[in-house]
Amino acid sequence: MSGRKKTVETSAHVHCALAIAVAAVAISPAAAEAGDGEALFRKSCQACHTLNSGEPRRQGPPLVGIVGKTAGKVDGFPYSQGLKQADWSWTEEKLDAWLTRPKSVVADTYMIYKQDDPQVRQKIIAFLKTAGG
Ligand code: HEC
Repeated sequence: MSGRKKTVETSAHVHCALAIAVAAVAISPAAAEAGDGEALFRKSCQACHTLNSGEPRRQGPPLVGIVGKTAGKVDGFPYSQGLKQADWSWTEEKLDAWLTRPKSVVADTYMIYKQDDPQVRQKIIAFLKTAGG
């Protein structure tokens, strides 16, 4: 009996230590930025973009693993001519320009979105880097 009680106590301890470890990760600056970025992504992008190719497609293509990926290459997505013919990849700089004003990157794009705040763009891009791929 007492042996069993001890096991329970030990596992409670382990849980506690894990919670502390998780909290420590959550407050590191990069993780905080990606965390903010996730909330911003949900608010600003999720209406049109999933992060999972398995989900039904929305107005825009899924963005899983988009950082580093060649633009305009999600199979079956009806891209604008400009994105369809793109031969460059989504670097952080490209994404920053895109989110500032999509038409400055692809003149005939039909993504209707603009984000004037550089910090918001940075946080969303930091989150996208963690989002699969
Ligand atoms: C109102 C709908 C809408 C919103 C909101 C929106 N997008 Fe888009 N997005 C689109 C559409 C539509 C396309 C395809 C554009 C084209 O083919 O020219 C697109 C394309 C993209 C692409 C290119 C994908 C590829 O496969 O090359 C990226 C990257 C992207 N969006 C990121 C974002 C991010 C990040 C946000 C939020 C900050 C966002 N979008 C918000 C509709 C939207």
